[in-house]
Amino acid sequence: MRTPIIAGNWKLNKTSREAIVLVEELKREVADLEGVDIVVCPPFTALESVSEVLTETNIALGAQNVYWADSGAFTGEISTPMLKDFGVQYVIVGHSERRQYFGETNETVNKRLRAALAHGLTPIVCVGENLAEREADQTFAVLQTQVQGSLAGLPAGQAGLTCDEMNKIVVAYEPVWAIGTGKTATPSMAQEAHAFVRGLLAKIFGPDTAQSVRIQYGGSVTPENIAALMSQPDIDGALVGGASLKAASFAAIINAARK
Ligand code: 13P
Repeated sequence: MRTPIIAGNWKLNKTSREAIVLVEELKREVADLEGVDIVVCPPFTALESVSEVLTETNIALGAQNVYWADSGAFTGEISTPMLKDFGVQYVIVGHSERRQYFGETNETVNKRLRAALAHGLTPIVCVGENLAEREADQTFAVLQTQVQGSLAGLPAGQAGLTCDEMNKIVVAYEPVWAIGTGKTATPSMAQEAHAFVRGLLAKIFGPDTAQSVRIQYGGSVTPENIAALMSQPDIDGALVGGASLKAASFAAIINAARK
């Protein structure tokens, strides 16, 4: 059985001080909750302070991006050893905002994902179609290109990881038209995409690994719509933007997603 995983992507929000206030409150709200993996992904500048607050809690720390080289002349970038230094366990790669505004491609997403895996970080790899692609009936084609491109070359040659170990990858299906718009995919639309992605994973890693990979839904997730989404067989959690910026709403989503 797959343990649900709820991750908060704070995006470009919260100073270090504001981040501490938010996680202090969240920590109280979700203390002792079991049956769900909880992750927060603050901006890089708040990782250290948030990490201190989260020590010995049931909330794991994630980053919003990572560069593939460990060090070198790459001004403005952050590497996996730097993230691990702060106790980061998860890293989002290939978010649609990175693809849309910062020129990321499946190839660069793949490099980030491989670097994360090689250093023992759990990548949360984001895929999803935009509105024009959905309206042109291209959703499955886009998902196929993104999943195959982002996971290219795995598991062979990847830090000695076997197919079985690939189950630590988390995939987030985030239809771009649902992000920050208040327009959630209906549970059945999301389920259809998740089942398709799981089928692609089965072709890459085999059916057993595909069954154990968690696939999150992302895009306008709220305390009101999470239960219906989680009732779908292939939806294993959520990647939450706006509603993760308030402890009460994020905790409500976490509670509703528990087994
Ligand atoms: P919203 O929940 O604000 O729509 O953002 C979703 C998202 O992009 C999470 O990564």
